[in-house]
Amino acid sequence: MTRSSVTSLLPLAAAAFVASLLASCGPPSLSDSAKRGRKVFMEDSEPTCIKCHELMDAGSPKGLGPNMDMKRPSRAQTIKSVTQGVGIMPPQKGILTKQQIEDVAEYLAEVAGR
Ligand code: HEC
Repeated sequence: MTRSSVTSLLPLAAAAFVASLLASCGPPSLSDSAKRGRKVFMEDSEPTCIKCHELMDAGSPKGLGPNMDMKRPSRAQTIKSVTQGVGIMPPQKGILTKQQIEDVAEYLAEVAGR
């Protein structure tokens, strides 16, 4: 290999290195359950969680309820409060299935505060 062909490869190698760095700090990859839970958080719930809860991953603004990135609720805490309601937060039992409630709990466990 000639000297000039080596130098012409350097920018390519640098670009590949930067691309691999970017890929490693991209958005976290979610489990299938959390992906479904993301949709529950943003669309399927009624009223939707995003109306009341700020969460960076969902892009939701500050609302009536606690900021989920600060709260970082456990799965059990989310399942209980969504099923039964807590304070002025309405229960979603009968609106969401048990599976959907588990999915939204998984979603918050994977993204809140990350
Ligand atoms: C009408 C507004 C509203 C909606 C809609 C709502 N929340 Fe809440 N949520 C609140 C408020 C207010 C609190 C604080 C209640 C308290 O501590 O008295 C709360 C508390 C919580 C908590 C913390 C519970 C605890 O143990 O402290 C979690 C987790 C939560 N919400 C998740 C959700 C999820 C998931 C959804 C969608 C399925 C949702 N919320 C929909 C208003 C809402």
